[in-house]
Amino acid sequence: MAEGRKILVTGATGQVAGPVATSLARDHEVWAAARFSDERKREALSAEGVRCIASDLAAGDFAELPRDFDHVLHFAVARSSDFDGDFRVNAEATGALMSHCRAARSFLHCSTSGVYQPNGHALFTEESPLGDNHRVMMPTYSLSKIAAEAVVRFAAREFDLPTTIVRLNTPYGSNGGWPFFHLEMIKKGLPIPVHSNAPSRYTLLHEDDIVRTVLGLAEAATVPARIVNWCGQEHVSIEEWCAYLGNLIGIEPVFDVTDRTLESVMTDNRRMRELVGPARVDWRSGLRRMVEERHPDWLVA
Ligand SMILES: NC(=O)c1ccc[n+]([C@@H]2O[C@H](COP(=O)([O-])OP(=O)(O)OC[C@H]3O[C@@H](n4cnc5c(N)ncnc54)[C@H](OP(=O)(O)O)[C@@H]3O)[C@@H](O)[C@H]2O)c1
Repeated sequence: MAEGRKILVTGATGQVAGPVATSLARDHEVWAAARFSDERKREALSAEGVRCIASDLAAGDFAELPRDFDHVLHFAVARSSDFDGDFRVNAEATGALMSHCRAARSFLHCSTSGVYQPNGHALFTEESPLGDNHRVMMPTYSLSKIAAEAVVRFAAREFDLPTTIVRLNTPYGSNGGWPFFHLEMIKKGLPIPVHSNAPSRYTLLHEDDIVRTVLGLAEAATVPARIVNWCGQEHVSIEEWCAYLGNLIGIEPVFDVTDRTLESVMTDNRRMRELVGPARVDWRSGLRRMVEERHPDWLVA
């Protein structure tokens, strides 16, 4: 992609969008929108050349946001247990943002592989049935993300706005993620929930691969909206990655086998590979790098 595009990244104070905003800011004019409740995150983004605009999606507060972005990368998400609030932020406000930015060349909406109906160890394609996947951990999440996808599909047609809906599967890296939480739990000796329908497998995607492919996926936007699973090349279980992390820090993980946790969510990446190529970071080196950068003093192997 040509340099110097004007790009809006929402949710840039968060785990996934933070590295996207800072890395794109090297070659593009990047604007970040969030509430910036943590002032240090605004300072960190500004120091990397990102322009920060305070905007509360719940209030539909876009007054300070320009309308002439080339690309909008929408990562902001609310994960409270309040259905009304989360539907407002995740679904309604996404439609309002698309309306505000309808002149963009593309709109990339970050969804989740947590929209798929759990189905044992099945591999989910973009056509697989949807369901209330995350209810047991985050009651509003799957339903409000499915609602958001419906709003996005409508808005893409309504505003003739080329759109990609990416269903992200288990992002991780030096900026955090589920394996990072597990690392901290292993260190503290806390039991890690895993589903009784073992093993609990996911298709991990490292933040470097997210950063490398995000604009290609935005460029692939279409009307009607194109849906793409955004995931790695390897299906790895929580049991495997925790064993590996435990080995790195010299502590054996403890598991809590239960049916009150998430089941496997493995996604097919054929469509992603056709559009932007496969993920490149292999999970062991990605996890090792995460520990090296976040807790180098914990490493024993
Ligand atoms: N993390 C995962 O494991 C995972 C897996 C699959 C898909 N995803 C998807 O990836 C995207 C990013 O997730 P994440 O885990 O990086 O999120 P996160 O770390 O929880 O960050 C959420 C972001 O949304 C912003 N936000 C929340 N409420 C807002 C509001 N009312 N107005 C404006 N901004 C608001 C927050 O900024 P302020 O608090 O500063 O406003 C923050 O920047 C989401 O769409 C999520 O569904 C994540």
